[in-house]
Amino acid sequence: MLKDRFERIHDYLRISLTDRCNLRCSYCMPYDLPRGFYAHSVKMTAAEVEHIAAAFVGQGVKKIRLTGGEPLLRKDAGEILERLSAYPVELALTTNGVFIDEYLTRLQKSGLRSINVSLDSLRRERFFSITGRDAFDRVFGNIRLLLNEKFHVKVNVVVIRGENDDELLDFVRWTKEAPVHIRFIEFMPFSGNAWDSSKVVTHRQILDALASEFHCERTETHANDTAKPYRISGHAGTFAVISTMSEPFCSGCNRMRITTDGKMKNCLFSRDETDLLTPLRRGEDIVPLIRECLEAKKEKLGGQFEGLTGSTVASEIINRSMVQIGG
Ligand code: 5AD
Ligand code: SF4
Repeated sequence: MLKDRFERIHDYLRISLTDRCNLRCSYCMPYDLPRGFYAHSVKMTAAEVEHIAAAFVGQGVKKIRLTGGEPLLRKDAGEILERLSAYPVELALTTNGVFIDEYLTRLQKSGLRSINVSLDSLRRERFFSITGRDAFDRVFGNIRLLLNEKFHVKVNVVVIRGENDDELLDFVRWTKEAPVHIRFIEFMPFSGNAWDSSKVVTHRQILDALASEFHCERTETHANDTAKPYRISGHAGTFAVISTMSEPFCSGCNRMRITTDGKMKNCLFSRDETDLLTPLRRGEDIVPLIRECLEAKKEKLGGQFEGLTGSTVASEIINRSMVQIGG
């Protein structure tokens, strides 16, 4: 079992399969960030992803989520899903939804039932301007396809003031007929993403905006849940708010992350990383390194800021950009 200094049991691993993405959302992949993509040689191969995952499963990990960049951009994403499906873990995926139709059969074969799709606007033009690609129809069609195939679909919406906060009601209206689970995410600061506290629309503000049309009922939170869930009577779907900034939920954190170059991060906002891939390639046991990394986990937000209380200056937070972490 993996337990940190704050008695938190860590049984959830998020693995980033690539730092590449076919979309260009500025809050996630800033244009002006001096960076190149990782070369193939420093990225985990499918077999290495499996080896690292197996080490975590051996230490009690029960859930693995594949992230990116865009995980389905990897040619061997299907092979990775197949390899991981042999382990006693719940598999999940976070994707921008563009390639879902191409992967549907493989997703079904791997036993994966829950998919998070990122979609920040329900308007075609705005989707284009946020992502730099005219792919709204394809993504929206793929969400419908997943719902028809009875997947559990969560739609991640990063809410940014002045960009898409006028669509909160539209997203919730969609849940009336569609059994889709919307998750409004408070905008978070990462390297180069022009974060500013005035652009954060808080949990409270989101609820206030929805109250003009809906009676939202808070539902039960499960242990380790990051989202505050709500239902509306008569709606097929639900919505939730991920309140990282206004009400951080670190006390129930059970998450660890692996970047595509095989570094372990004990928190989304951790500054330090532990290289697991190099020792693995040398044939060393990585379990002591995993434990050591978790031992150093900070109580809250990587120990780097305080949420919305106190003055958070995004450029002072030492971290990767979101496209390199994987959310
Ligand atoms: N703030 C909040 N959420 C973000 N995501 C990416 N960058 C940010 C940010 N700065 C979301 C993506 C994706 C999930 C993995 O994290 O939209 O849905
Ligand atoms: Fe866990 Fe770090 Fe996210 Fe807090 S900020 S919930 S500690 S990953």
